[in-house]
Amino acid sequence: MTYMNDFEKIVRDQLARVEMMKNMAEFTDYSKIEKIIIGIIDGDGIGPIIVGETTRILEVLLKDEISAGKIELRIIEGLTLENRISKMETVPTDVLAEIKSCHVILKGPTTTPNKSDDLPNLESANVTLRRALDLFANVRPVSIPEKNINWTFFRENTEGEYALGSRGIDINDDISIDFKVTTTDGTKRIAKAAFEFAKANGNQNVSIITKANIMKKTDGKFLELCYEVAKEYPEIKTDDWFVDILAANLINPNRQTQYNVFILPNLYGDIITDEAAQIQGGVGTAGSSNIGGRYSMFEAIHGSAPRMLADGLAHYANPASMLRASEMLLRHIGFSNKADTLAKAIDITDDKLIMSGKKTRNTANEYADFLLLNI
Ligand code: IPM
Ligand code: MG
Repeated sequence: MTYMNDFEKIVRDQLARVEMMKNMAEFTDYSKIEKIIIGIIDGDGIGPIIVGETTRILEVLLKDEISAGKIELRIIEGLTLENRISKMETVPTDVLAEIKSCHVILKGPTTTPNKSDDLPNLESANVTLRRALDLFANVRPVSIPEKNINWTFFRENTEGEYALGSRGIDINDDISIDFKVTTTDGTKRIAKAAFEFAKANGNQNVSIITKANIMKKTDGKFLELCYEVAKEYPEIKTDDWFVDILAANLINPNRQTQYNVFILPNLYGDIITDEAAQIQGGVGTAGSSNIGGRYSMFEAIHGSAPRMLADGLAHYANPASMLRASEMLLRHIGFSNKADTLAKAIDITDDKLIMSGKKTRNTANEYADFLLLNI
């Protein structure tokens, strides 16, 4: 029964990860950094197009900071599917070193091969990077002012179903088993981040999302620990929901405005945030941040859209997701004024142009040109 050895190795690795979390790096204080290095990664599919347009905008928006040497935009090559396959590494070692030489990362979407593709079954670059840089909080805002919807999702980003997503075990031809991991440190740190955010934003409501009625160990622990953290924030109204009914309530006009801040385990957070982005106007409209202690990475909520590329529609991709991610990045490193300017310009451009991914509508390039007139 060789898989017993595999399982023992898995447990040992997770115990080691817990030790690493106990020694987590301090949060970077960007105000103390002389020159903040923003690493920019194109990614695959529509990535080079939407990241290219975003970079063009950032160069204009940050012109003074760049020439004063306060900010550097550093292009990082090599996180492409072709290079990853040729090196047979999810994130090639030299690319990871380059990434680690930056303070924050703006990343385009990367393609993950599926078992059904005729490609090596490499792990997702996102998942590898989140783990390698210990980016534990996936923060995804969704806002629809006219419907009074103001949601911020705090998705746990390093464990749950993703911790061992590539390390499940085929017991024999008949049985395959995957694993889900919840740890005390991993849960407490995401809960704390969510409650701190809720507190800093006028004591918004916090909802804990699980399926603890079924996943009794992992989600049970998650739910219990989130409520434990909640005790430190008595002024915040906290409740909990199962993920299935939450999915329904988010599209229920009588329910959707009652929510503000959500804390979710990894996979539920993945699914629910796509739903929420769609309610906002599509996954192309949503940005996403991956926050850790030492590093942070900002990206679109969506993938590389290989179908758009195959259909010759890549130039019609909406760069708004990358721009929203850039807005979050700028806020994160303490450039709130620049973030506000960018946010306003995105709003104006969204009102004016129509980005539907169709040839009859606007291109990413037109979007960026118009936006540049507004900053
Ligand atoms: C996301 C994406 C990723 C995820 C993929 C690309 C691995 O869907 O950031 O939500 O599943 O986390
Ligand atoms: Mg997703």
